[in-house]
Amino acid sequence: MSEQKTTFADQKRKTVEIAEFTEDGRYKRKVRSFVLRTGRLSEFQRNAMNDHWADYGLEHQNQPFNFVEIFGNDNPVILEIGFGMGKSLVEMAEQQPQYNYIGIEVHTPGVGACIAYAVEKNIKNLRVICHDATEILRDCIADNSLGGLQLFFPDPWQKSKHHKRRIVQPEFVQAVMKKMHQGGFIHMATDWENYSEYMLEVLKNTQGLRNTSTTQDFIPRPDFRPLTKFEQRGQRLGHGVWDLYFIKD
Ligand SMILES: C[S@@+](CC[C@H](N)C(=O)[O-])C[C@H]1O[C@@H](n2cnc3c(N)ncnc32)[C@H](O)[C@@H]1O
Repeated sequence: MSEQKTTFADQKRKTVEIAEFTEDGRYKRKVRSFVLRTGRLSEFQRNAMNDHWADYGLEHQNQPFNFVEIFGNDNPVILEIGFGMGKSLVEMAEQQPQYNYIGIEVHTPGVGACIAYAVEKNIKNLRVICHDATEILRDCIADNSLGGLQLFFPDPWQKSKHHKRRIVQPEFVQAVMKKMHQGGFIHMATDWENYSEYMLEVLKNTQGLRNTSTTQDFIPRPDFRPLTKFEQRGQRLGHGVWDLYFIKD
């Protein structure tokens, strides 16, 4: 059997965050919102990443992306964090060509699957990044430049001792607010009630955000949000779903 070569896609799995060090040179351990699963990268996903990264992939960089250069137009840019296998993101990009989408995911098999589906559908208004989203927000997105932020079914980190790993925290929403232009939206969804209540509290307490819910809490799932894989799993288990939709005034 021939020896398997380490390809671009395999390399990517090891570089989803930037190592940071303390002043005295020790590795700074971050509280991360994800655990890197070693799940197998299928041949199909690996090939999609290797063959189509030039068309769909963006790399972490230390200066803001130039969206007009990337997409060839100045349509609003929507950022989705943690797209999983990417099916719902590709469907959304297909259904809403008036927006550009950038999806961020640290799970390489998901990135490969998303690219493969985008290629199949010949999607032009989508790019993907395989990196920690908090670093992408901090380093690669210009202030007041985003049309919206989507966060669908983020890892719920159910045990209270793990709540600090939840991506939705006041500092995270502040960071998003800074990157969003006026009129931009924050759309979150979760099937974990306790997390939905926390999301609501954090968003409500963020100055400059307006809740679009008529009841000042959650909204019914809008038709423009396709069902996600994680959501479908939750439905089978009888979970409820809470959508939150806020606008930056
Ligand atoms: C529970 S899954 C939901 C996936 C998808 N949105 C869905 O509904 O099917 C959450 C995803 O977020 C990703 N994730 C968590 N923290 C992240 C981060 N800081 N940057 C990028 N992706 C992240 C995880 O790898 C995981 O695939």
